[in-house]
Amino acid sequence: MNCSCSQSDHVQRSRRLGDESGTPYATLSADELQRVAEILRANGALDETHRIAYIGLDEPDRAEVTAGRSVPRRARVQLLDVDNGRARALSVDLGSGTLAKDVDIDPDHDGQVPLLQEEHGIIRELIGADERWATALAARGIDDPSTVALAGLSAGRYPIEGERGRRLARVLGHHQPTPQTMPWAHPIDGLVAYVDLASRTVVDVIDTGVMPIPQETGDYHVPGTFGPERTTQKPIVIRQPEGPSFSFDGDVISWEKWSLRIGYDMREGLILHGIGFEDDGRVRPIVHRASIAEMLVPYGDPGPVRFWQNYFDTGEYLLGRLVNSLELGCDCVGDITYLDVPIADARGDVKVLPNAICIHEEDAGVLWKHTEQFTGTSDVRRQRRLVISFFVTVGNYDYGFYWYLYLDGKIEFEAKATGLVFTAAYDERTSRFASELAPGLAAPYHQHLFCARLDMAVDDGPAVIDEVDVGALPIDDDNLHGSAIGFTKTRLRSEQEGRRRANATVDRTWRVSSATAKNRLGRPTSYVLTPEGKPVLLAQPESVIASRARFATSDLWVTAYDPDERYPAGDVVNQSAPEQGLPAFVADDASLDGADLVLWHTFGLTHFPRTEDWPIMPVDTCGFTLKPHDFFDRNPTLDVPASPTACACAHEDTDAARTEHHLHHLSVRPSSHHG
Ligand code: CU
Repeated sequence: MNCSCSQSDHVQRSRRLGDESGTPYATLSADELQRVAEILRANGALDETHRIAYIGLDEPDRAEVTAGRSVPRRARVQLLDVDNGRARALSVDLGSGTLAKDVDIDPDHDGQVPLLQEEHGIIRELIGADERWATALAARGIDDPSTVALAGLSAGRYPIEGERGRRLARVLGHHQPTPQTMPWAHPIDGLVAYVDLASRTVVDVIDTGVMPIPQETGDYHVPGTFGPERTTQKPIVIRQPEGPSFSFDGDVISWEKWSLRIGYDMREGLILHGIGFEDDGRVRPIVHRASIAEMLVPYGDPGPVRFWQNYFDTGEYLLGRLVNSLELGCDCVGDITYLDVPIADARGDVKVLPNAICIHEEDAGVLWKHTEQFTGTSDVRRQRRLVISFFVTVGNYDYGFYWYLYLDGKIEFEAKATGLVFTAAYDERTSRFASELAPGLAAPYHQHLFCARLDMAVDDGPAVIDEVDVGALPIDDDNLHGSAIGFTKTRLRSEQEGRRRANATVDRTWRVSSATAKNRLGRPTSYVLTPEGKPVLLAQPESVIASRARFATSDLWVTAYDPDERYPAGDVVNQSAPEQGLPAFVADDASLDGADLVLWHTFGLTHFPRTEDWPIMPVDTCGFTLKPHDFFDRNPTLDVPASPTACACAHEDTDAARTEHHLHHLSVRPSSHHG
């Protein structure tokens, strides 16, 4: 049968996030952001020398909201005085127009606020005028420093003479002889500059010796560079003639039995609030709040030019503000709802990030299926999922953050890593720590580690958490042949016990159960976190990066909810002191028994680049799932109707098609009892 779906048009619907007020977890609206800036100015906190490094909703205490108390509407702000490099953390009360909190950020104890966009301009100015840098470039055959693309990078916190307490960036260069040239193909190795952003000085230019600049082009973006385009692809068309099956009420989306509030933050990006599933006429809470609260890209080249290369893309670079404006038909296909996100820039002017969040519904293959020999019946239902996603570009890399909700109660998160690998020159030394991707071009080994913060609310109320491992049962009188299998359940009773490693060989999962709610068989209602169990941070435990990213050394941490515990590497991450965030949160070893539980799950990719990753890397993925376990009384999708057979898009349910379908049924009738 020939489906001739000629209407290949995609559908775009647009909404703006945060256009409602009075709801505790609603994203700050454009008006509210404006008001925050006004209050800051009125209180003398935001003037010509001050910049907003971060602004976001100061989320109220979960317990206060649950108890139905009225909570103040507040914004959290980090300010930087660009004249002296001093920074402050504030809480701005929108109702009273006052500063509810105003404290100094101690560069020694806390670290530095994230790099501002304008500081990249300062870096270009300073480096462009530096003679040491120009001399080093000339030694490499580059006479014009303006033909070098500069990457201003977070400095980390290393025991380097004179660095403590200074606001720093480190700078690497790539040759870009023409504006069209893809510079990552031409790393200028053996050369790095250290810049003090507060005093506006180039502190040091380190030239460890000339290395040849790889010359082969990486210009995949120029048509024809790597040969002609293939001509073999026929169109794939997705149609939803009646629109998508979801609807919005403010920022709350309802789809099938799911409902949740969508939020956005310039640091974390997408935030999902109040994820619940309707069951028997009531919405049952599952997750109070879900986000990817930190992301780390540690590099494994210990050489003098790159030993410090570790990026906290969330805490240091605020990946949420680096969001792409997605394009219909390219980034997203089908019937797409885009959410625009209001954001305040460094001077408090409100901008809107258009098409920042992409929401759509898609077919997800078979949901369940059975052909039964005894009844002669054959049933199949199709799975579908709600996709809520955004994409960011952080320098050379691009990351997609995809949340999937399925009909059967499963929640899945998938990170997509693509873009360009960070490059170096390939020689005998780097060959130990990097792959060669093109002649003379190296890509150092590295990891991409994500930390999900999952503030759980399984059937609301108090919860407990167990680690579940599977295995064989011992041979005994009841198990004579040794074939019995079972599982062991270990209760994690305190925050110290809640620090766990994954173990795929025993199918290790972590089960969060309600301490009170039970299913019809009397079992606690639960959701299970299934990790992929790939490596977490590989650097040595005593390394600088492990001390600053301790969260990433375990697959799981569990904490009793505390409204001040937001980020796994701490509130301030740029040049942060060791052991911030999770190690500090669990220091009191609070009880997890019957608490509101927060799961902190680190997962990621360990990337030994392949030649196939050059000149642009095909998407690689990692993630985790949360699945109901004894949460529903039975398969919650028995009410999913069968899909129309044959060619739905052409509405051609012809006699011939029906006959063919009928014959197919006949052919699977039982012939034996041993199917
Ligand atoms: Cu990578």
